[in-house]
Amino acid sequence: MPVSSAALDLESQTPCPEPSPTSSVHHAIASEVRNGLTSTPKTLTPWLFYDIDGSYLFEQITELPEYYLTRTERGLFATHADQIIARAAESSGSDPAPMLTLIELGAGTATKTGILLAAAVRHQSSVVYQPVDVSESALAAATENIRSNIPGVTVRCQVADYTSEPLPLNRLPHTRTLALYIGSSIGNFSPDDARDVLRNLRAQLLPGDKLLLGTDLAPGISKSVSMLEAAYDDRSGVTAAFNRNVLARINRDLGANFRPECFAHRAIWNAAESRIEMHLVASHAQTVTIPANCAGPQLTVRFREGESIHTENSYKFTCARVEALLESAGFAMAETWQDAAELFAVNLATAI
Ligand code: AVI
Repeated sequence: MPVSSAALDLESQTPCPEPSPTSSVHHAIASEVRNGLTSTPKTLTPWLFYDIDGSYLFEQITELPEYYLTRTERGLFATHADQIIARAAESSGSDPAPMLTLIELGAGTATKTGILLAAAVRHQSSVVYQPVDVSESALAAATENIRSNIPGVTVRCQVADYTSEPLPLNRLPHTRTLALYIGSSIGNFSPDDARDVLRNLRAQLLPGDKLLLGTDLAPGISKSVSMLEAAYDDRSGVTAAFNRNVLARINRDLGANFRPECFAHRAIWNAAESRIEMHLVASHAQTVTIPANCAGPQLTVRFREGESIHTENSYKFTCARVEALLESAGFAMAETWQDAAELFAVNLATAI
């Protein structure tokens, strides 16, 4: 999300209030929408999904029977958290074992992270946890949840956008950082952007620091393409509502006149690119108007019947691709944990 990172809130003891939309956020939305809807083919950037309604719908997606990603990653943490933390804290050579600080990029409400934090507390009795996210309300929920459930964790939240620029991570001296980038969030970036996000992270770390990266796996022996497509096109229509909400959001935020019900949700496996693509397909020819705003004059957008807006890519990885991505960003793979059905992987890597 190309909104400048600011407002660092460290050592906060009280939940942060939700901010009103700032003019820089409004400008970022207006210019992303203008650029995306005037390109060929039409696109909308996936960060536009996550307004209040979209974030709520995403939380519902993570509970869907078809959306195996969240529960599989949570299961991997439940089974291997102690081992993950022990490997991350392994001493190098004759040095004493370091204390870990956990930093989480795009932490959201940090629901799965609690399992790792509990293991970290078992390992070293107290731990500093620094969740980083653009949403102050999500960080407030994370802080509340961790403080009330896991004694021994000090939460220092940081409101910032780690995707748009190198992030000053405020790393604690004399500890080893374990950076968490879980939930398959890396999969929503193109391969070049994913490398840049990890390179920016690497630039904030010291050699020997660790990264735990969650990656959804490409189709294989137990994962069929239809299973993958169902995860992005569930029977109850929650993912369709999540996808269409981006149009409702543009109406709310920019005063446009999209009729979301006139766009069909599509989730398609693109084997050549190893990604699920989400699209919104116009059910008939139609015209949408976006009033003049800070990014430009009134915009009239024409859709042909069947024309699509490409709203998201979700890349799926082989182990070799994860390793190559990590290496291109200055990390070396240390260990990977996968579930028995080879649906999802969590990968521990060392900053080199
Ligand atoms: C946030 N991200 C990892 C989700 C994914 O699976 O790519 C977003 C999502 N889109 C549709 N369903 C979930």
